[in-house]
Amino acid sequence: MLFPDFRGRRLRANKNFRRMIRETKLSCDDLILPLFAIEGKDIKKPIESMPGHFQLSCDYIVKKAKEAHEAGVPAIILFGIPDKKDSLATRAYAPDSIVQKAVKEVKEKVPDILVITDVCLCGYMDHGHCGVVEKGIIDNDASLDLLAKTALSHAEAGADMVAPSDMMDGRVSEIRQTLDEEGFSHLPIMSYAVKYSSAFYGPFRQAAESAPQFGDRKTYQMDPANSIEALREATMDVEEGADIIMVKPALSYLDIIYRLKEEIDLPIAAYNVSGEYSIMKAGEIMGWVNANEIIMETLLSIKRAGADLILTYSAIEVARELNS
Ligand code: PBG
Repeated sequence: MLFPDFRGRRLRANKNFRRMIRETKLSCDDLILPLFAIEGKDIKKPIESMPGHFQLSCDYIVKKAKEAHEAGVPAIILFGIPDKKDSLATRAYAPDSIVQKAVKEVKEKVPDILVITDVCLCGYMDHGHCGVVEKGIIDNDASLDLLAKTALSHAEAGADMVAPSDMMDGRVSEIRQTLDEEGFSHLPIMSYAVKYSSAFYGPFRQAAESAPQFGDRKTYQMDPANSIEALREATMDVEEGADIIMVKPALSYLDIIYRLKEEIDLPIAAYNVSGEYSIMKAGEIMGWVNANEIIMETLLSIKRAGADLILTYSAIEVARELNS
């Protein structure tokens, strides 16, 4: 049908028509809020590169979790900044370490919010890499046991779901097997299956104090040029027992989200990462864009591409806006 028989503007003429024919709807059910937990009490240390976000001691993590819950956000994902780093990431899997404590406190005080934990070693290693380093090389197989131990310690602390973000090969099956053996066969795994080596993680590395001290993450995180490989990575994690497949970052990879949604029969999550958030906030601070509007438009685009779940630093504000 062509003009003048078809007039696209007819169904755009007012708010109610637009409401009725809207194809994609963002919902607070889709949102996951990342938070950074730090040792101590009464600490709320601003993260310079992520306006509105802080390194929070457990008391503040609980407050934020409550706020998120009240706003209608169903889940948070926790990252930890440990009191010490070493070459075996021992604070990643110690039962009294920061994430384990934060999980316990949130589950005790805000039991109705889901607590997801990021499972990685980079923030706990003195060299800042996501696996064990042997003679300057990131040793895949030597890292698997530590990752599984970390996931298990989170499960024992009460986490509702674990999310491995390290990009070592075979870690999903290692974690699945360990959880199953230790009585956590009910605990789902959200795998950062398709994680690109991205400059958009810059602000996060400041927030989590997890920048690599030598080299980069290109030998384990994916080359941004590849999409067939994304499918292979996702398929592998499905076979290894992942319950949710994540694509990260989101905005430069909407084609990947779209493709995985078509080909993978599991829920797809997308991580609207720190750099994406900070750029929008910077635009707001400069007075050049309306950050609230571009955040809503951005999240909508991630959903339209096919994401079922979105990890976003704006989850609370967005949930409030959606419910207003
Ligand atoms: C840990 C991890 C990173 C992010 C999530 N988990 C950083 C990295 O891989 O360097 C990035 C999240 C963000 O940028 O918001 N491996």
